[in-house]
This record gives sequence, C-alpha cells and structure tokens, in this order.
Amino acid sequence: MSTTTPVPAPTERKKVTTLSLRQKKARREPISMLTAYDYPTALALERAGIDSILVGDSLAMVVLGYPTTLSVTMEDMLHHCKAVARGAHAPLLIGDMPFMSYQASVSEAVHNAGRFLQEAGMEAVKLEGGRERLEAVRAIVAAGIPVMGHLGVTPQSINAFGSFRPQGRSAPAALRLLEDARLLEDAGCFGIVLESVPARLAELVSRRLAIPTIGIGAGAGCDGQVLVSHDLLGLFDRFTPKFVKRYADLQGAMRQAFESYIAEVGAHQFPGPEHSVEMADEEWTALLAALDGQAPGVGQAQAGVRKDE
Ligand code: KIV
Repeated sequence: MSTTTPVPAPTERKKVTTLSLRQKKARREPISMLTAYDYPTALALERAGIDSILVGDSLAMVVLGYPTTLSVTMEDMLHHCKAVARGAHAPLLIGDMPFMSYQASVSEAVHNAGRFLQEAGMEAVKLEGGRERLEAVRAIVAAGIPVMGHLGVTPQSINAFGSFRPQGRSAPAALRLLEDARLLEDAGCFGIVLESVPARLAELVSRRLAIPTIGIGAGAGCDGQVLVSHDLLGLFDRFTPKFVKRYADLQGAMRQAFESYIAEVGAHQFPGPEHSVEMADEEWTALLAALDGQAPGVGQAQAGVRKDE
C-alpha cells in the first residue's frame, strides 16, 4: 500500500450523542447500531450513516478466534477501540466492558470504564447484567460516563446459562427482565441492549422505558437494532445465530480473491509489468558496467535487489 495515501477527512455528519438517540426514540425513528473492531470497518460504517458503533467483546470470537467472549482483555478491547475511534467520528462510539473488568468491585468498574474514554476514544460503555450491576452502573454514571445495559442472553455468563438459548420466555422470567430493565433505567443507563428475548416482551419493555432499547434477536418492536458486523457480512461462519440476516458473503469473496492470487502467482501472471517498478535504461547500463569484471553471475543476481534511494 502506498504510504502517501491521505487520511480521509471526517464526514460532515452531525455528531450522534446519547441525547440524540433518546430523541430518535421519542420521534419513533429506528436507531441503527453495528459492531466494528478496526479502522476500515469504522470508516465504512461512518460513511454508510450508522447511528452508533459498538466495539463489542464479540471481538473475542469473530476477530481473535476464541470460543467464547470470556478471554478478551481490557488491553485487547482498548487496542481495537482506538482503531475504531480513528475511523468514525459522527456515530456514538460504545466500548464493551470485557468479562471481569467490572464484576469484581465498583472501583475497578469505574476505573476500567474511564479507560475506554480516556485512552481509547469511546464515548460510552456497555456492560452485561441487571439488578446485580446497579451499584457499578450508578458509580460509572456518577463519574460522567454514559452506560448502556445488556439484558436477555448475556454471553459473558455462558457458563452460568449453559447455552445461548433465548431468555425471558416464561412469565416469571419475563417479569424479572422487565424489572431489571426499569432498574437499569433508574440507575442511569442511557439505553439497553436486549439480546435473544421474545419479540413481544422486547416490545413491551421498549414501550415502558423512556430510554431506547436496542434489539439483537429481539424482534422489530425495539427502538433500534444491532448485529455483529462479521455475521451480517458473512465474514464469520463458525456459528451463526438464527436472528442474523446475512447481507453479504465476504468470507466467500475473500477466499475467491485469495485463490485467484495464489493461482496467478503460481502461473507467473502476477505481478505484471504494471505492478513493477521501472529503472531507466542508462542507470541499468551504468549498473552493469559497474559490475563488469566481477565474478560471473553476480551482475545478474545483484541487479534484482531492491534498494531504497
Ligand atoms: O459483543 C457484542 O458484539 C455485543 C452485541 C451482540 C450486542 O454485545
């Protein structure tokens, strides 16, 4: 890649904030959110007009290849958040707090939440759980950091759930989820992700809260929608939840491109003259003359060596 490619200017889009998301809900305009973990994806999402980008801890599975989200660390998250923040400016940027970055103590939760804003360019954080997280939510919000909740399937609790099966399907479970949503709202959350819960429950929760709900596998009645970009793009095919809609097959496209490259290299078709660097005839002649008299074969071999000038 050329080192002289200019960094594109931020788009002219108006900045999305937690307040503008709430206003969108009040106007009944759906909120769009997708995940990103790197600069080019953030840039594409900014240009496409997304409302909000979540640097999800799904990073662990879809980018880093771990079997669950549990292995991803604060340092991993911050590294990828920084890349996203360089590529997107208008969308609201949310960093996902990884497993064990907020569960052990409230002060650790505040400290780690602060790192997302101070070091990594995020504007809000997300954490999983309901009533058991209220103290942490209150303290993070009190520190001036917007918090998004996450209810329903909470993948960091996979070992407690035993599977990713939908949550809130019985009346008592649904009631508990609704209570948790209200408690998170009262604790100061600016929004809540509802993952893999019945559509009619998600709609009821959405109508009873003033803050926006963002659904993933929670039906059309939420105030907004989020998907893991790698699922939507067909980049991650090890496991695809039922609620994912595939808009592209980039894993297939990538494989095709790689196969074409390998075949062309094997057939001496790449690189062509248009991909090669020229050398003026007089310089070439001078080089050969300078090499004249050296051991046979040296001139041929040395002439191909690349050297910065
Ligand atoms: O980590 C993530 O990508 C998420 C979304 C699925 C909401 O939490």
